[in-house]
Amino acid sequence: MRSFLSERAKNTERSAIREILKYTQEPEVISFAGGLPKPETFPREGLAESAASQIRDNYEKSLQYGTTEGIKEFRQEMSSWLSEFGLELELKNIIATNSSQQAIDLVSKTFLDPGDRIFCGLPTYLGAVQAFSTFQAEKVGIPLEKDGMNLEILEKKIKDSKSSGRRAKFIYVIPDFQNPTGVTLSKKKRKKILDIAEEHDLLIIEDTPYFGVRFSKGFKKPIGTYDDNGRVITIASLSKILSSGMRLAVVGGPSELLANLVTMKQSTDLCTSTTTQWIAADWLKNNNLSDHLKELRKYYRENRDAMIEEMNRSFPKDEGISWTEPNGGLFIWVTLPEGMDSESVFEKGLENNVAFVPGHHFYVNGGGQNTMRLSYSLLNPEKIREGINRLGKVLEKELSPISQ
Ligand SMILES: Cc1ncc(COP(=O)(O)O)c(C=O)c1O
Repeated sequence: MRSFLSERAKNTERSAIREILKYTQEPEVISFAGGLPKPETFPREGLAESAASQIRDNYEKSLQYGTTEGIKEFRQEMSSWLSEFGLELELKNIIATNSSQQAIDLVSKTFLDPGDRIFCGLPTYLGAVQAFSTFQAEKVGIPLEKDGMNLEILEKKIKDSKSSGRRAKFIYVIPDFQNPTGVTLSKKKRKKILDIAEEHDLLIIEDTPYFGVRFSKGFKKPIGTYDDNGRVITIASLSKILSSGMRLAVVGGPSELLANLVTMKQSTDLCTSTTTQWIAADWLKNNNLSDHLKELRKYYRENRDAMIEEMNRSFPKDEGISWTEPNGGLFIWVTLPEGMDSESVFEKGLENNVAFVPGHHFYVNGGGQNTMRLSYSLLNPEKIREGINRLGKVLEKELSPISQ
């Protein structure tokens, strides 16, 4: 049967995380593995009203096919929200997609030939890696620091690529509260990465689904706001802030590039669901997304605080163990002492009914065996404390043979 498969299908591995989630769904397991948003944070009453009115009164449009670019009203509402953060997008500079995963797939389909290189964080989001693999790109991982990608290494790898005659196409960045680490790219690096893209003639794919889930006051402008030369494509998803089931995102960027994405999208799905676009447009018109986000942030911030407090209390006091303290998003990243294997911690964790994702899954070029991703998105603070306490005990036991 394998002989029927395209090279593309052979090249694509099943998502390891989706496989892991199967083991973690027993009711007694406290799972920090999945990264799903909490459904209670979605404005269900308002969405229900918008859905009813749009389906009943606007059925000629909301139940009909739409243009591939997406419906104007939805794009306008999103453009107006994004302009609060400095991203000014005219209608020709914004299209709707089936959430950010489709946008990543479309940029890959549009820009990548087999063997082309892309640069991404080490670690990075697995769903993007899957899309890059499907289009047979070579993925070059760039280590992350506290303030985002190490840009010296990025430049070096780009130069190496050039001298080995490989065509490099884009840098994939998750600038805000990155999945899986929670790290945010500093303002300085946002500007610098654009200079690097400019100097080496690369595009930047800026994927920012956690942008709205920010705990502190200040925000960092999207990289797209600094772009004067049409190099940045910004993907802004509604999955974490309005509803993941509606499958909606917008892609902002230079109109010529978006036109190519639209052509590729035609053969993928003709158009994004007009029904969900109309519902979202109606909700956005009648509600204030930024106000809604204030409530949503409170919930995730409490969870983050509970997790960090309990880690401070229950994790072994070992200088080899550290974790990120993200200012937003859904994830904390833990680094264990060198030589410790988080797969083994994962197995012992499951025996003790606590789960997470071993970090090596997020590394495109190998490595990361001593890391783990913990999500605080779905549980209440009490459960989070209980789970972290269990994990602390597992780590304590796993550490002892190393320190002997
Ligand atoms: C960085 C990043 N990009 C994209 C996605 C895909 O999300 P969606 O397609 O629901 O917008 C996720 C999901 O967790 C993510 O973490």
